[in-house]
Amino acid sequence: MISLKNINKYFTTEEGKFHALKNISLEVEKGEIFGVIGFSGAGKSTLLRTINLLERPDSGEIKVNGQEIHKLKRKDLLKARQSIGMIFQNFNLLSNKTISENVEFPLKIAGFPKKERIQRANECLEIVGLLDKKDVYPASLSGGQKQRVGIARALANNPSVLLCDEPTSALDPRTTENILEFLKTINKKLGITIVIVTHEMEVVEKICDKVVVMEKGEIVERLNLKEPITEVHSEIGKYLFDHLISLEGKVEYVI
Ligand SMILES: Nc1ncnc2c1ncn2[C@@H]1O[C@H](COP(=O)(O)OP(=O)(O)O)[C@@H](O)[C@H]1O
Ligand SMILES: [Mg+2]
Repeated sequence: MISLKNINKYFTTEEGKFHALKNISLEVEKGEIFGVIGFSGAGKSTLLRTINLLERPDSGEIKVNGQEIHKLKRKDLLKARQSIGMIFQNFNLLSNKTISENVEFPLKIAGFPKKERIQRANECLEIVGLLDKKDVYPASLSGGQKQRVGIARALANNPSVLLCDEPTSALDPRTTENILEFLKTINKKLGITIVIVTHEMEVVEKICDKVVVMEKGEIVERLNLKEPITEVHSEIGKYLFDHLISLEGKVEYVI
């Protein structure tokens, strides 16, 4: 579904070249919820943004839905991006547009006529339970509601993949739980593959099938949370392992 092979990314900084992604390879299968966890500055957002080529790597291959994204011409890339939704920590809603207009926005870019846009926006707002808010502006919504609008907007183009960059980091614990449940439902009901970047253990524990741990631009650990974990190496891996083992009846972990 998603395949990254030997991805390298350098940023040019005042101190010279900075190696932000170091030979990253990973595979995400269809229907999976795939986590990327790591401390701030590890390269998580950069990695996520290479999947839809918002960040172009200096070397490596990116395949999404069988398409080699990095080889596409601009027009085809824009089309391919429509099947890859994205949500953000700070929601990135347009404050001078209504909720419905926010959700319609990607459809406008995709060239849909107004009538269809409104209809699809209504459907997506219904999915996230916010149809009654369609004519208000983002400022009047709570954080959790704003993220649900972000999700509705990401769903507008019927994506097969949803990229989530710290989707719950600006939310309180209860709202976090709510949004995570929500992402799980979308994954199960709509069959959307989810890649979720986070620094929060809870996100991984609650919804991820697999997780990679990133440190300083490298993947230092790969865990399949559906299988017994027998070995962990990284600090985060160990921490995660201790947390998981304390969750009764989840899976049997052997060390
Ligand atoms: N456009 C950029 N120019 C220079 N350095 C960048 C740029 N984007 C990110 N970086 C650097 O790359 C590293 C990884 O950043 P990022 O992917 O945002 O990490 P994370 O999401 O894990 O916090 C950081 O050290 C950051 O400062
Ligand atoms: Mg980040």
